[in-house]
Amino acid sequence: MKFKFIAEQLAQQTQLNRHRQRVSIASSSGREIIVDGKQYLNFSSNDYLGLNNHPDIKAAMIEGAEKFGVSASASSLVTGFNYAHQALEETAANWLGRERVLLFSSGFAANQAVMHALGQKDVQLLLDKLSHASIIDGALSSQASLKRYRHNDYQHLAALLAKTTAANNELNTLIATEGVFSMDGDEADIDALTQLANKANAMIYLDEAHSIGIKGEQGQGIASADVDIVMATFGKAIATSGAFVACDTELHDYFVNFARHYIYSTAISPAIAWATQKSIETIKKEIWRQEKLSTLTRLFSCQLDSSIDLVPTTSSIHAINVQEEAKALAASEKLKQKGIWVTAIRPPTVPNGTSRLRVTICANHKERDIIYLAECLNEVLV
Ligand SMILES: Cc1ncc(COP(=O)(O)O)c(C=O)c1O
Repeated sequence: MKFKFIAEQLAQQTQLNRHRQRVSIASSSGREIIVDGKQYLNFSSNDYLGLNNHPDIKAAMIEGAEKFGVSASASSLVTGFNYAHQALEETAANWLGRERVLLFSSGFAANQAVMHALGQKDVQLLLDKLSHASIIDGALSSQASLKRYRHNDYQHLAALLAKTTAANNELNTLIATEGVFSMDGDEADIDALTQLANKANAMIYLDEAHSIGIKGEQGQGIASADVDIVMATFGKAIATSGAFVACDTELHDYFVNFARHYIYSTAISPAIAWATQKSIETIKKEIWRQEKLSTLTRLFSCQLDSSIDLVPTTSSIHAINVQEEAKALAASEKLKQKGIWVTAIRPPTVPNGTSRLRVTICANHKERDIIYLAECLNEVLV
């Protein structure tokens, strides 16, 4: 039989309690979700600022479709780059205080594109161990040498830098990290990274997927102006879809010419680009959303029993490590019975032995939702 591994690997996933299935969502508001006709409080959404149903953003989406059409109908270098894209690039560049921004169809594509385009033979890519799959895949597909330093362990990174630069001081180095880590919610220390990078003449690549919108005075992320390249997705706090890479003019030109995921892919929908621009404006105007998120996040940490293994965070991502797959699934199921939706996250998304409940808080949750969630978690886990 051909492709025998398909059935074998699926059976193995099931046996390890790692088999994944989708649920069909009837409606989602960030705060609430309807699944199979039943309503739950949703704590597994990346709509961190609660913008998904914002009337101004929805109106901009309709206006964008009317002005520019639903589809870009071509890749950017052919005829797919129109006024809506250009306006969004300029808005995002101003927001982050960067020279240029380039749009991608997703954060996954942007990460892969940059790693692949920069990862030439005389380059080394040093990645935080917990970097997103797309950064790793992009790095693996490149010609660069690849090393991973232990998560947020800058001594380990310094040791790797010292070793490789002593062996070859002509080597070009790119250090890649997430700003807020997707599965743990903890943060990279950009000051420490910048010091190391300056000393080693290395570039820093920062994935702000989970910090854009929710960190920074105007929601522009944790380190928009301080690193060489920033990547951020539109699909989380910004509540549309697609992504951007922010950098200087020369790098921008390089990516336009060499980033394969940019060149050989249809440009993002102009209607979405128009809505995204409105979303960025809204984030800056309604900064209370960010403040509310911080208040709810603090409330959650205070309400949770101290015996629960919660990764410390100032983001909206709260990782509760329960270790085993079966335990994470059982806890998620018990929460469901109490009207709470928290998806169990298991390997390979997270390392073996660190299956977890990944709780995400959104700005449109109410204080009573958070208190109820903590009560239920205390009951289910303690
Ligand atoms: C850290 C990180 N980077 C990149 C991505 C990919 O972004 P997108 O969903 O826009 O493809 C994600 C999303 O899962 C992420 O968590």
